[in-house]
Amino acid sequence: MLKKIIMVLICSSFSVAAANIADTHTEMSGCDACHVNSEPSSDMVHELQQCQSCHGAMKDIAGDNHKIHDGVIGCNDCHIAHKDVKPDALCSQCH
Ligand code: HEC
Ligand code: HEC
Ligand code: HEC
Ligand code: HEC
Repeated sequence: MLKKIIMVLICSSFSVAAANIADTHTEMSGCDACHVNSEPSSDMVHELQQCQSCHGAMKDIAGDNHKIHDGVIGCNDCHIAHKDVKPDALCSQCH
C-alpha cells in the first residue's frame, strides 16, 4: 500500500516536468530507445512495441485511463512523443 502511494507520488511529480516524452527518453537512452537508427518507422509499430517493452501493456500501467483503453487505442493516441501536450488535453478529440 505504502509502496503504491510512493509510486503515485513519483509518477505525479514526473507529469509536472515540462519536457516532452521524446526529450526525456532520449536523455535516458537515446533516440533508438524508440526508433531504429534515429529514423521513425513508416507505421510506428516498432515505436509502440518499444513503449510496451519498457512500460508493459496498457492494462498493466497504473491509472484507469490505461485499463479502459487497452486494446482499443495506442500510446501515441494520448501521448504525443515530440510535443509538450498533456494526454488529458486529447480526450475531447474522441469523446
Ligand atoms: C519515447 C520514444 C521516442 C524517442 C526517444 C524519440 N522519438 Fe522520435 N518519434 C516517436 C514517436 C511515437 C513519433 C510519432 C509522432 C509523435 O508521437 O510525436 C516520433 C516521430 C519522429 C519523427 C517524425 C517527425 C515528427 O516529429 O513527427 C522524427 C524525424 C523523429 N521522431 C526523430 C527522432 C530523433 C532524431 C530522436 C532522438 C533525438 C527521437 N525521435 C527520439 C518516439 C520517439
Ligand atoms: C527504454 C525504455 C523505455 C521506452 C522504450 C519507453 N519508455 Fe517511457 N519511460 C521509461 C522510464 C525509465 C521512465 C521514467 C520512469 C517512469 O516514469 O516509469 C519513462 C517515463 C515515461 C513517461 C512519464 C513522463 C516522461 O516523459 O518521463 C511517459 C508518459 C512515458 N514514459 C511514455 C512512453 C511512451 C508513450 C513510449 C513509447 C513512445 C515510451 N514511454 C517508451 C522507459 C521507457
Ligand atoms: C487514453 C489516453 C492514454 C493512453 C492511450 C495512454 N496513456 Fe499513459 N497516461 C494518460 C494520462 C491521462 C496520464 C496521466 C498523467 C498525465 O496527465 O501526464 C498517463 C500517464 C502515463 C504514465 C505515468 C507518467 C506520468 O506522467 O504520470 C506513463 C508511464 C504512461 N502514461 C505510459 C503510457 C504507455 C506506455 C501507453 C501505451 C502502452 C499509454 N501510456 C497509453 C493517458 C493515456
Ligand atoms: C484516439 C481516440 C481516443 C482518445 C484520445 C481517448 N479515448 Fe477514451 N475511448 C476511445 C474508444 C474507442 C473507447 C472504447 C469505445 C467506447 O466505449 O467509446 C474509449 C473508451 C473510454 C471510456 C469508457 C467508455 C465510456 O465512454 O464511458 C472512458 C471513460 C474514456 N474512454 C475516457 C477517456 C479519457 C479520460 C481520455 C483522455 C485521457 C480518453 N478517453 C481519450 C477513444 C479515445
